[in-house]
Amino acid sequence: MTDHDHTQTYAPDPAFTAQANAQADLYDAAGADRLAFWDEQARRLDWSTEWSEVLDWSDAPVAKWFVGGRLNVAHNCVDRHVEAGNGDRVAIHWIGEPEDDARDITYAELKDEVSRAANYLSSLGLVAGDRVAIYMPLLPEVYIAMLACARLGLTHSVVFAGFSPNALRQRIDDAEAKVVITADGQFRRGKPAPLKAGVDDALSGNGVDAEGTAESVQTVLVVRRTGLDVEWTDGRDAWWDEVVPQQSTEHTPEAFDSEHPLFLLYTSGTTGKPKGIVHTSGGYLTQASYTHHNVFDHKPGQDVYWCTADVGWVTGHTYGVYAPLSNGAECIVYEGTPNSPDEHRHFQIIEKYGVTIYYSAPTLVRTFMKWGAEIPAAHDLSSIRLLGSVGEPINPEAWRWYRDNLGGGTAPIVDTWWQTETGAIMISPLPGVTETKPGSAMRPLPGISVSIVDNEAKEVAAEEQGFLVLTEPWPSMLRGIWGDMERYRDTYWSRFAEEGYYFAGDGAKWDSDGALWVLGRVDDVMNISGHRISTSEVESALVGHRAVAEAAVVGANDETTGQAIVAYVILRGNVDAEEDRQKLIDELRAEVSREISPIAKPRDITIVPELPKTRSGKIMRRLLKDMAEGRDGGDTSTLSDPTIMEQIREKGTRG
Ligand code: WT7
Repeated sequence: MTDHDHTQTYAPDPAFTAQANAQADLYDAAGADRLAFWDEQARRLDWSTEWSEVLDWSDAPVAKWFVGGRLNVAHNCVDRHVEAGNGDRVAIHWIGEPEDDARDITYAELKDEVSRAANYLSSLGLVAGDRVAIYMPLLPEVYIAMLACARLGLTHSVVFAGFSPNALRQRIDDAEAKVVITADGQFRRGKPAPLKAGVDDALSGNGVDAEGTAESVQTVLVVRRTGLDVEWTDGRDAWWDEVVPQQSTEHTPEAFDSEHPLFLLYTSGTTGKPKGIVHTSGGYLTQASYTHHNVFDHKPGQDVYWCTADVGWVTGHTYGVYAPLSNGAECIVYEGTPNSPDEHRHFQIIEKYGVTIYYSAPTLVRTFMKWGAEIPAAHDLSSIRLLGSVGEPINPEAWRWYRDNLGGGTAPIVDTWWQTETGAIMISPLPGVTETKPGSAMRPLPGISVSIVDNEAKEVAAEEQGFLVLTEPWPSMLRGIWGDMERYRDTYWSRFAEEGYYFAGDGAKWDSDGALWVLGRVDDVMNISGHRISTSEVESALVGHRAVAEAAVVGANDETTGQAIVAYVILRGNVDAEEDRQKLIDELRAEVSREISPIAKPRDITIVPELPKTRSGKIMRRLLKDMAEGRDGGDTSTLSDPTIMEQIREKGTRG
């Protein structure tokens, strides 16, 4: 059997189909009239003013969805469930990393908490459209903070708490955030680690690549989590527990325009500067809510839903916060790592809370595989009735292992393709409707238009690789890159400008049964454990070190993380002793960690005498990738010096 064996299919279980939210006619309805279909999906939400037009695409590539419609996202995610009489339902089962540290929050309680936080933020003089940076681990307050922003029309920018102060500062400056919400520290593998200290460095400019203090920031709101000592800036810093709890629980949400910016989320592009992806309110929530209902077959009041992604990534935004809460879901929110205190943690949580829907990533499934099947087997996981996967292509072996060992051999797996930019799921089987094949994302969802094309924008034949494009706008699409609309047009819309296709950056193919296979990025973006990191971002961190003259970075296949970062560097001067070279390699790893994040640390760094370049000076990354993946050299005839690969092999120092 090959890895892409497309003869192996799993038909939907008729018992699942009989109870499924989505039925086959969903495809027909969307196919018959796409805009009428989205109009109907938008009506799953509460709007205070109806829209006059479903889509205005006259200013393409900037869409307006549900034109003139007004709604409040927090009302849709919280208040309306309370008003419907479901205030006693648990919204969040929060589970801290230290054992026995847990807290359940009902929808009614969430409404009070969000109102208090909103009242506090308004007392600071913030007004709709202002930006708020959130730099926090998975605490209940991160949900409360995001929803309080949404309630007030403040545009949040959540920065993954694993990012460095340098990366935080870059994002704060770009968005000109007025407030930063953070915690004193976070628990990581049983130990408290500081977080507020990083915010202090970011804002004062200490050890970051920015001049002086961050001028936009007026307030730093700090959640007490670990009790670690923190430095304090009077007049700027406030403890959450000293200013939020005494606020009133009365707060009337105002409705905002459908196109009001709900959040910015920075993601890596093909240059060193991260892009602030802009998402809006009405279209975003419509598609988030619709996909969560149909792809996860979610039933309010029955399911216990767990999306394992951190809130610092788009999966955590859409399927951790907005989509499930819009559907009144009972959500698991776990602060820690899967092996804290040991490898049983996720399975204990599933067993204890009776998780029915589990949405995770291939890299975690492969980690579970390494730990061994006896670990999930030690727990009663029979509550699980649906599994989801996102972040990278899932290899068929991991797919089967996932279904057999977490899904009792029967749970449907939804392999969901989407991106930070798409805001919500675009390609996925519908459980109970679409058959599945291990490793294939199967087909575009009802309402979504996809094509796979060659360089001339012509649809490729079955089994031929092409570029994945989106041929029609969709409600949760990004509306731009913050402060840089030109880059928005260039990055996504210039490659197939004539046809007006959105270029996703992924390669894909249809198989002969019409199933879609995503084959990975075709640009200089790497995918490390489902985290997106650009080669040039890591390269610029490396050349930021005084000893480095030039650097080339590639993503190489890795059994656990999907891809791993492999770097080749040329030094400025001579460093001859082996010991000194190894020490330098360690320093370079630390430098990348400081500049970006520990998740961007190269797995391998090789000091080389030269890099493979064409006669015009372009680095041939393909050859480095071959080398990093252990393949012997491809065609070197276009190199300016054909012996370079040999020199690298012989004289390189790897660490
Ligand atoms: C890139 C987007 C969407 C949330 C997590 C990542 C890859 C994502 C799949 C999948 C194959 C996938 C693509 C995409 N990707 N899901 N099911 N099958 N590849 O969001 O950081 O914006 O990355 O992740 O390459 O372009 P992101």
